[in-house]
Amino acid sequence: MKALVLAGGSGTRLRPLTHTSAKQLVPVANKPILFYVLEGIADAGVTDVGVIVGETADEIREAVGDGSRFGISVTYLPQHQPLGLAHAVRIARDWLGEDDFVMYLGDNFLLGGINEQLEEFRTRRPAAQIMLTQVPDPSAFGVVTLDEAGRVTGLEEKPEFPKSDLALVGVYFFTAAVHDAVDAIKPSARGELEITDAIQWLLDQGLGIASSTVNGYWKDTGNATDMLEANRSVLDGLTPYCKGSVDDKSELVGRVVVEDGAVITRSRIMGPAVIGRSTRVEDSYIGPFTSVAEDCVVVDSEIEYSIVLAGAAIDGVRRIEASMIGRQAQVTPAPRTPQAHRLILGDHSKVQIRS
Ligand code: TTP
Repeated sequence: MKALVLAGGSGTRLRPLTHTSAKQLVPVANKPILFYVLEGIADAGVTDVGVIVGETADEIREAVGDGSRFGISVTYLPQHQPLGLAHAVRIARDWLGEDDFVMYLGDNFLLGGINEQLEEFRTRRPAAQIMLTQVPDPSAFGVVTLDEAGRVTGLEEKPEFPKSDLALVGVYFFTAAVHDAVDAIKPSARGELEITDAIQWLLDQGLGIASSTVNGYWKDTGNATDMLEANRSVLDGLTPYCKGSVDDKSELVGRVVVEDGAVITRSRIMGPAVIGRSTRVEDSYIGPFTSVAEDCVVVDSEIEYSIVLAGAAIDGVRRIEASMIGRQAQVTPAPRTPQAHRLILGDHSKVQIRS
């Protein structure tokens, strides 16, 4: 059994953060999404892991290395263009050989792991086994229909008029039969080789497709709203500890993690929240469901339900909520109530301004 992790793609929905970095490395509770994926795979006992990488290959390699710190062995498989999930399987063809494998999208967040599903797949060995969950807006996902007995009857990628509310979760189990499917399908209207089409092809050949529903929490972290929501759900299960220094004029309320070298002065941190290594917080309020990464500075500010990436500085801003602040970003107030706003924004930035 091998694992194929997809960490290429273009991450357009998370721009501008993904202009400069891989979306799979955006942190949730100060840990990259991709690390949760690799830990889940290691926990299921799969150690031979292929990682599909694209434009952000260098950054992914630097973060993951040879995989030894997760207890796995990683082989990098370059994909020159993000031509679809089934295209990634094609890229990995030689490395996969005739082995069964689990394919895991590197931006999918699944609390509760894959152990049970893997066991089920090992026992039954259908050509493909998929995971499903009910969603309010299925048209943004691969959508699956089942018959009354719960058997898979059809799959469609991002349909305009979904036939069910069952979305495909980004974890799939395959036998080597999938390679024939991947070779047989043609690119979709959006120019990608779709894994849903490959699974539909297997179904059309009369091969068994097993499915199970997700019991734990699942999020496809394609956009900022989903990232914040995944962050909230991980912080909810936080075990508090304090390795940094907190002065006696500060208060940590509820489940708060303060990492090594962080310094909290005259501030109130409302858990659940994490304050990263060597981050400085002064005269500030950091509200629930907020992750502040390492080497940040938060001074005289209020921030709630947000993710702040490494090296960001927030000074004199009341207040920030439901926001993602990129690496080394600086947030400061205008010198006086502005007649006009002065902005230096990267391509695809989103700013909401009172006007
Ligand atoms: P998607 O979220 O479907 O695609 P994307 O990364 O291009 O994002 P966006 O829609 O915002 O532009 O990809 C799911 C995961 O699979 C993600 O981790 C990227 C990865 N991927 C590849 O590795 N190769 C590919 O060809 C594609 C399409 C995605």
